[in-house]
Amino acid sequence: PRFTIIEHTGAEHQVEADVGQSVMQGAIDALVPGILADCGGSCSCATCHCYVDESWASRLPPPEATEREMLECVVEPRETSRLACQLRVTPAIDGLVIRLPASQV
Ligand code: FES
Repeated sequence: PRFTIIEHTGAEHQVEADVGQSVMQGAIDALVPGILADCGGSCSCATCHCYVDESWASRLPPPEATEREMLECVVEPRETSRLACQLRVTPAIDGLVIRLPASQV
C-alpha cells in the first residue's frame, strides 16, 4: 500500500510500505523528516504525531486508550490527530494522506 505524507512546509512524500508495518515505520524507512519516533513505536513519546486527512479520519480504526492518552500531550492537537506508530499499514489505507505538525522537526 502507498500513502502520502505532507510536511508542514508542503513537501510531499509518497511512501510505499508493507502490510503489517506501522505508518511511522514506513515513513522512517522512506527517510521522511518530521516523524521523530523517539520511543521506537511503543506509543510513549508522541513524536510521531500526525494529522490524518479529514476524508480519512473516520475510515481508520479509532485510537485505543493508550494512544488517546498520548494525544492529550501533543503540541497543536486537532480532531484528526493520530500517532503514526499506532496506524497499521493494511490494504485499506492505500491512498491515505497525512500531514505533519510544524512543531515536530
Ligand atoms: Fe513514540 Fe509513536 S513513535 S509514540
